[in-house]
Amino acid sequence: MSNQDSLREVADGRAFDLGTAVDAAALRDDVSYRDTVRTEFNALTPENALKMGPLRPSLNTYDFTDADALVNFARANDMTVRGHTLVWHNQTPEWFQPWDYTDDQLRRFLREHVQTVVGRYRRSVGTWDVVNEAVADDGTMRETVWYDAMGEQYLDRAFEWANEVNPDADLYYNDYGADAVNEKSDAVYDLVERLLDRGVPLDGVGLQLHALGEWPDPDSVAENVRRFQALGLDVQVTEMDVAFPAGEEPDDALERQAEFYGDVLDACLDTGVDTLVTWGVDDARSWIRSFRDFSERYTGDPLLFDERNRPKPAYRAVREALST
Ligand code: GLA
Repeated sequence: MSNQDSLREVADGRAFDLGTAVDAAALRDDVSYRDTVRTEFNALTPENALKMGPLRPSLNTYDFTDADALVNFARANDMTVRGHTLVWHNQTPEWFQPWDYTDDQLRRFLREHVQTVVGRYRRSVGTWDVVNEAVADDGTMRETVWYDAMGEQYLDRAFEWANEVNPDADLYYNDYGADAVNEKSDAVYDLVERLLDRGVPLDGVGLQLHALGEWPDPDSVAENVRRFQALGLDVQVTEMDVAFPAGEEPDDALERQAEFYGDVLDACLDTGVDTLVTWGVDDARSWIRSFRDFSERYTGDPLLFDERNRPKPAYRAVREALST
């Protein structure tokens, strides 16, 4: 590796997918953002554009403008795309009021949604987060609109519907707080085991890895990855960012953050995880700065590039880990 090599070149060199969550408006409006995305990453997750809310202006219509722009950008720059996400309880359309519909109408609506979106990107999106965050923090099944209408079977059906339309795609279950071995990941483990027992076409588990305040132990992350792999599943790190509790960051915050990024990358490489996605490109646009009260709870500089788009120590740690 030469010092001039970008992250992407180093990742390409070892067939690792290093991705980032991309914002459609920033990609359109900001040349330097666009350049960073295509120079430094070889994989892309639409940050919002493929979620149900942004995609569905009304019951019977779709707006694929932003999603198409991101997918086309990825194709033009030879980047892979993680489709995120088909079934989730958050970021549903504003007009969507579940009580307006019967259970059967909700089921048909979801089926049509999954099949339309997966079908449109059959040739360009090879990996999907089919279901996001179905497990609640206490390990029970989360009581979402989909769960209320269909019970746990909503997962089975969603994976089957996606698989019908694109049998070649890798279909993932994705969640937060399940990164290391803990109660939540035990519950996710039990859930995916049940899905597999029922013959559901599930290929992998996405560990979001939002390290906010409490960071998971990288050894425990590796152990967790291995137990999912032992079920025959692939594992990816899908939404990584690293923050301290607000007001409690140490003097060497950036170095500690860098070290943690490097340790997680090492855990990935040790276990054969071939994809890690950071949830955003530069600190200025991190979701933590604008989401609910998160900006008061956590430091707002969780990513590999700083506010002025300059590489941080974390950038160098990731490059170092990928080059050894
Ligand atoms: C979850 C979702 C992401 C994103 C992040 C941050 O992890 O899966 O799509 O919304 O929260 O907000």
